[in-house]
Amino acid sequence: MVKPLRKAVLPVAGLGTRFLPATKAMPKEMLPVVDKPLIQYAVDEARAAGIDQFCMVTGRGKTALIDHFDIAFELEATLAERGKREALALLREEAMPPGSITTVRQQVPLGLGHAIWCARSFIGDDPFAILLPDDLVLSQMPCTAQLAKVYNETGGNVVAISEVPREQTNRYGILKTGKVEGDRVEVLGLVEKPKPEDAPSNFSIIGRYVLLPEVIPFLSRMEAGAGNEVQLTDAMAKMIGKMPFHGLKFEGQRFDCGDKAGFLEAQIAFSLVRPDLSPAVREFLKKYVTEQP
Ligand code: UTP
Repeated sequence: MVKPLRKAVLPVAGLGTRFLPATKAMPKEMLPVVDKPLIQYAVDEARAAGIDQFCMVTGRGKTALIDHFDIAFELEATLAERGKREALALLREEAMPPGSITTVRQQVPLGLGHAIWCARSFIGDDPFAILLPDDLVLSQMPCTAQLAKVYNETGGNVVAISEVPREQTNRYGILKTGKVEGDRVEVLGLVEKPKPEDAPSNFSIIGRYVLLPEVIPFLSRMEAGAGNEVQLTDAMAKMIGKMPFHGLKFEGQRFDCGDKAGFLEAQIAFSLVRPDLSPAVREFLKKYVTEQP
């Protein structure tokens, strides 16, 4: 029996430089896809996997993220007074139970590995999921639930993986793959941002992980890796061979919302699965692709 997965860490301390000036005074994770901020997608996805304890690793200028999960008392009172029942129900439906979300500060963004290390007290001795809110996944079964299913069967570490064009391996954490069983791939090695000619495969990790707390001592070493940052991938690589470690070719489509084109594509894809928006979006898309020079 594996220890149940109840915790998630949401690293949100990055600077979001690719989205300036939008992210000058607003965290990247508050950018909406259709009508929901990225952070809310991540929390909803984790809750759908049975996770009920959250830790956001924040930095300066990120208070909107904390406020987002609080009760907007004046707003709710005004909505109630005006009889806006639907809007009120929406807010209440998404409210977090008291005490279920905590935050820690990463004072200096020294890398994703360092951000996870900052959540070490929250993690304690428990397995935990990591969701990078700027990676969005559109799927039948929420991506974290897919990982949790594998974790419950195999234990150890499980990461979501997808194939990337070989010339893009220098943007991702890349797997050295072992045995492949259906959608599960044994992880034999991990390299952060290898040059295409050095990449051991074209399977990259996307921003969804289930990890064991044993990763923390490796992160504590604070070894700088690619980009001079403390890389999560490097610490994970040190766990290979010591415990089960699988990559999951998850079902679904991933959108890199930290990138402008990926973010725009997500807007289209997520609006096309919304019955209230899909007809209008299809209509205007047709107009733009056929009528524009
Ligand atoms: P990114 O590589 O997308 O960096 O981080 P970024 O700063 O958010 O965005 P750009 O590249 O400047 O536009 C991936 C994830 O890791 C978190 C980010 O918040 C994001 O969720 N992160 C990254 C941290 O929390 N701390 C860090 O030191 C680095």
